[in-house]
Amino acid sequence: MGVNLDACFDEFNETVNKTVDSIRRGYGRNTVLKGIKKTCFDRNMVFEVAKCRIKARKKFGELADKLFFDNEGLRYSTPPVVAAYRAKRLRFKKLADVSCGVGVQLLFFSKHAEHTLGVEKNHFRLELARLNAFALGCDNVSLMQRDALDEKLAKELDADCVFSDPARPAGEKVRKLETLQPNPVEVYRLYHVKTGRIAFELPPQISRENIVIDGEKEYTSLNFRLNRLALYTGELATCDVSAVSLPSEERVTNEDEPMSLLESDKVRDYFYEVDVTIIKSGLLSNLLGKIGFDGSLVQTGKRRTLLSSNGLYESAFLRTYVVRETLVFDVPTINKALKRLNARKATLRFEIDSKDYWGFRKKVEKGLNGEKHFYLFKVGGKAVIAEPSGIQK
Ligand SMILES: C[S@@+](CC[C@H](N)C(=O)[O-])C[C@H]1O[C@@H](n2cnc3c(N)ncnc32)[C@H](O)[C@@H]1O
Repeated sequence: MGVNLDACFDEFNETVNKTVDSIRRGYGRNTVLKGIKKTCFDRNMVFEVAKCRIKARKKFGELADKLFFDNEGLRYSTPPVVAAYRAKRLRFKKLADVSCGVGVQLLFFSKHAEHTLGVEKNHFRLELARLNAFALGCDNVSLMQRDALDEKLAKELDADCVFSDPARPAGEKVRKLETLQPNPVEVYRLYHVKTGRIAFELPPQISRENIVIDGEKEYTSLNFRLNRLALYTGELATCDVSAVSLPSEERVTNEDEPMSLLESDKVRDYFYEVDVTIIKSGLLSNLLGKIGFDGSLVQTGKRRTLLSSNGLYESAFLRTYVVRETLVFDVPTINKALKRLNARKATLRFEIDSKDYWGFRKKVEKGLNGEKHFYLFKVGGKAVIAEPSGIQK
């Protein structure tokens, strides 16, 4: 398309905003499409962009009102907190993002760089990246519709650092390096002769053995959830494995002195839920060593790892609870205790089939009319009623 953005940006943006209004008012697709006035962009594109702008509020907050996405571009776009962190770690004068999508990460890179280049194979998405750069006033960004795996592009490229966040095939049960597009192994082969600084964003579920490129594997947690896995190669690597928690930016690495814990279902004064990111990165003992944890490992599992201690520890990788009561795991006994503790709600924090969750919860919450919100754990056949400590980072 290669439209002149100076000439049509305002008109297009206004049309998208009007379409957002019509969708929000509940008009059907055909009615909305008929009402879209002709701009430099096709009506169906305007409709998709408007729909995505509504959806994007959840991920981007108010920034969404300025940005342009297609469905896939939005789904795989980097959350702003992560993009800001990655851009701080990769501060270079000339940076190239060779699979830039609608350009979210690229635009965050541009804040610290003199010049950033975005390469994208998909024409529509490249145009959206262009609109996004224009919308955010990033005038140090160039964009090219090219294949990142084009040998000619790799030879011509002038960058201090190359970054790629490849597309993931939808519905893949087991994530593999070789099915990502562009294939990171190929990107590495083509670009590492140009620069010793190449970084990738990989699906966090991918197994470590599958990552055949050497470098630091950085597991990224966003608001206590495993969100991303970055691979920093060559001189970008600072260790072998790390985990970072955002927004606090607390970090743990395999170089932090490890400490192991004994398993025990003894319930002490505090309970700690461990961020899955730490478990996935295999850095639990390094985290415990780093914070000097004195206590025991109560439970380990795919979904929940629990620690207990008489000491109070602060880490963004831990959710802290104060234990209020430990009792037999029996509904009437739990219900009685919750009443005594002035409870209003009790969130279940143990393995329970999702179809049974609300039935069980209703039973333990029966007749509660207090004010407090408790969390119910199950440890070695015992019920533990706990309350968030309020010191979460
Ligand atoms: C996960 S998205 C990038 C998202 C981006 N980091 C962001 O924050 O908005 C990956 C993009 O890579 C593009 N892509 C896939 N293969 C490519 C190739 N060989 N060359 C260039 N771009 C490619 C896809 O079209 C897709 O838009």
